[in-house]
Amino acid sequence: MTNQFEPMILGFTCNWCSYRAADLAGTSRKKYPPNIRLVRMMCSGRLDPVFVLEAFSGGADGVLITGCHPGECHYIEQNFKALRRVMLLKRTIEPLGIDPQRLKLVWASAAEGNLFAKEVETFIGEVRDLGPLNWKKRSIKNELKLVESLPEEVPA
Ligand code: FES
Repeated sequence: MTNQFEPMILGFTCNWCSYRAADLAGTSRKKYPPNIRLVRMMCSGRLDPVFVLEAFSGGADGVLITGCHPGECHYIEQNFKALRRVMLLKRTIEPLGIDPQRLKLVWASAAEGNLFAKEVETFIGEVRDLGPLNWKKRSIKNELKLVESLPEEVPA
């Protein structure tokens, strides 16, 4: 038995693409480490930044957001909202003491079970290398005040 750190990853998946990619990975018997727990949303555009902060404060060492490829979102362009939110979140979490590499966005279609499994495995390895986060003792209310003070726009 090894004492290797095993990260806990929370994954947000889009119902129409990446959740089905995860399903395909399972039915195709593609193996990836069991460190990830998936939360299904109807679209990656449903991602509220608070979900990510709650995940970290709840004990997640990493958060993976997955959705349809750009141009293939079932809700037209909502996944671009997810992209903007992830970019903003990466900037937000760094001053809060969370390495931005702990948050990752991946596009995966329903046919990309292999890609999904590979991306999950890669991300788990990356977070494992970063070590435990131990952010759960932080006050989410104080962190949210900081988030609310950030600008809406992301410079190009
Ligand atoms: S429906 Fe999949 S990202 Fe929007």
